Formats: sequence, structure tokens, C-alpha cells
Amino acid sequence: MTDTQTQSLFAPRTSGDVLLEVKDLDVHFRLKNGGLARVVDGASLTVKRNEIIGIAGESGSGKTTLVEAILGINRFSNRELGGQVLYHARNGQVMDLAAMSQNDIRRVRLAEIGYVPQGSMNSLSPTMRVADQIIDGMVTHGVSARDARRKVPELLSRVGLDERVMRLYPHELSGGMKQRVIIAIGISMEPSIIIADEPTTALDVNVQRRILATLMRLRDEMGVTIIMVSHDGAVHAELVDRLAIMYAGQVVETGGVRPMLKAPLHPYTKGLTDAIPTITAKRERIEGIRGATPSPDNWPQGCRFHNRCQFAMPQCLEIPPQLVQLQTEHVTSLNGTETIAQDRLVSCHLYDPAVRGAGND
Ligand SMILES: Nc1ncnc2c1ncn2[C@@H]1O[C@H](COP(=O)(O)OP(=O)(O)OP(=O)(O)O)[C@@H](O)[C@H]1O
Ligand code: SF4
Ligand SMILES: [Mg+2]
Repeated sequence: MTDTQTQSLFAPRTSGDVLLEVKDLDVHFRLKNGGLARVVDGASLTVKRNEIIGIAGESGSGKTTLVEAILGINRFSNRELGGQVLYHARNGQVMDLAAMSQNDIRRVRLAEIGYVPQGSMNSLSPTMRVADQIIDGMVTHGVSARDARRKVPELLSRVGLDERVMRLYPHELSGGMKQRVIIAIGISMEPSIIIADEPTTALDVNVQRRILATLMRLRDEMGVTIIMVSHDGAVHAELVDRLAIMYAGQVVETGGVRPMLKAPLHPYTKGLTDAIPTITAKRERIEGIRGATPSPDNWPQGCRFHNRCQFAMPQCLEIPPQLVQLQTEHVTSLNGTETIAQDRLVSCHLYDPAVRGAGND
């Protein structure tokens, strides 16, 4: 795509509050047997400026595939992309990252989005000192080696590491220190947004806590927006402002983290939140969500959660629910607590009187 064509993707900025809008995003993979794995399938999500938003969901729900599509990373030749990823840039332009060429999106990514990929802690080069790995990343982004080297101590200090760490090799670092180096690389270009995919998964709880505190500090100091992907509900409970729950390639509920944990609306959200020991404080009674996650090349008809849902109605087997803002202001959650539906989106027929009523005919 030429620059002129890229310009035509730009539109005037629409909302100061919104940084990213994922609209009806599809990431499908054509399989060798002729089938189609609809790994992300009609996912929608809004990310607000300067917030920390969590993406939660079981393994295989499409979290990594979704964030890779936001970043324009395409690791597979069999990928088919649909929908929009509208990015509201610092200069006020809105661009659709899903419609850009790899070259164009790469430029946006380098300037605006920092990425901490899943498992990246173990991808540091064993033969390079920490400073050189940070410098390398910045030089690739067009910064001179001299300027990059000057910036290393500041970056290390931002992520809570001593300056002496710059001279060390990865094998001399603890897991938590390696993860901090990865975050330093992620913020080296001063991005507007950081996408961190399971950044604390392999770490023990205390180290995890300190890394989360560092991310919160970065948000406050740099004014950066953070998308935090994790299947660990306790991480979200501690860190994020808003939560998006993914199931079977779709976002099924979003809202403020506290109301969602206290008063889940979607049965899948309730299953996930019941499994967080720090919230329920009833570890011995925690049960997983019954049944297995369906396969992306064969999602169930109607609501994709129906075969695991204790609230399923006959209509759930036929009609796919949509992610919508609730019509009523006050709603009773699945925990029996009243909650305010403002800023809450949910994809479940329990909250749609028209569909619920249809079952009584
Ligand atoms: N190129 C591909 N072709 C076919 N299927 C794929 C491809 N890439 C990913 N998948 C499938 O997509 C599903 C979701 O993968 P993804 O890595 O996005 O899940 P996730 O939610 O990040 O899981 P985890 O919590 O384990 O990291 C998996 O079942 C995976 O097998
Ligand atoms: S739409 Fe039906 S099956 Fe799906 S989560 Fe809601 S109640 Fe359960
Ligand atoms: Mg993943």
C-alpha cells in the first residue's frame, strides 16, 4: 500500500477518550483439510486512553490471536482477517490497522505500540548483554546507537532495575529481572499503549505482584495505556481498571473490574470469577467451569457457551447473542447482587427480554 492509500484510511478523530476500537474482528485460519478455524470471530472491544484493560479467558479462547491482530502481526500464511481495528493516534488521526499493509502498520506499531509477547522472558539472547539487547531494539526503530545507549539507564530505572544490570547477561538475571528487561524494551520507544501478553505467568506470586506494581507506575508516570492479557483472574483483580472476557473467539462481557468481579452478568464470567481464590476466599469449594472449550473449527450453533451453561434456555441453542449495552440501568447479577449496567456490555440472552420471552410462547 502506498502512503497516499494509507492517507485515505485516515479520518478525523472522533473521541478524545477512546484509543482503540476493535470492531467485529475476525481472525480465521484456513486449514489443510479445507476447514476454517475461526479463532477470533466477531470480537469487539473498546480501549480507553490511559486505562489498564485486562483480557481474560481460558486457554485457546483467542487472546493472543486477538492482540497479534491488533498489532498487525501475521505469523501464518493461512490467515484471513476481517473487521476493523481503529487506532486513534497521538496526532488525532484515526487509522484502521486491519486495512493497512504490513509496512505501514509496522511504522505505526514501532511509534505507538509497545509489545511484551507471551513467553518473551525466555527469548532474550543468551549471548548479549542487557544494554545491547535494549539498544538493538531501539536502533531497529531508527534511533542512533549513541542516543539509545544514553537512554538505557533511564529505561532500567523506570522498570525498577539498577543501572549495573545493563552489563549483565540473561543467565545472571532472575525471572522477574528478565521480565523487567522485556518491559524496558517494550517501553523504549515511549509508546502510547503497551500490550502485555501473560507477562507474569511463570513468576512466583511476590515477583508477580512487584511486576504488576511496576506496570501501574508506568501507567501513572508515562500516561501509557495498557492491555494486559492473562488467564489469571487474580492478576486482573489486582491490576486492571476494566476487564474484557473472551470466550470462543468473542468478547462476551466488558465493564469495570470491581463490578464485574462482584456482580458477574455472563455465566462464563461468573465461572471465571468464582475460580479466583482471593475474591471468593473459599478455595476448597472452587470448581472449574464444567465441560471443555469447543474447537475453533466447529463452534456450537447459537450461544457458543450453551453446552457448558447452567442457565441455557432452548433459544440459546439457536440464536447467537450479541454484545450489547443493557437497556435497564439496574440489573441483578448472577451472584444475586444489584449492579448498575452503565459501562457494561454483555452477550447473553438472560438480559434480553425479547429472546427470553420467546421461550414462553
Ligand atoms: N495458524 C493457526 N491455524 C489454526 N489454528 C490456530 C492458528 N493459530 C492459533 N490457532 C488456534 O487458535 C486457538 C487460540 O489460540 P490463542 O493462542 O490465541 O489462544 P489464547 O487465548 O492466547 O490461549 P493461551 O491462554 O493458552 O495463551 C488455539 O486453539 C490454537 O490452536
Ligand atoms: S445466552 Fe444462554 S447459553 Fe449463552 S450464556 Fe446466556 S444463558 Fe447461557
Ligand atoms: Mg495466549
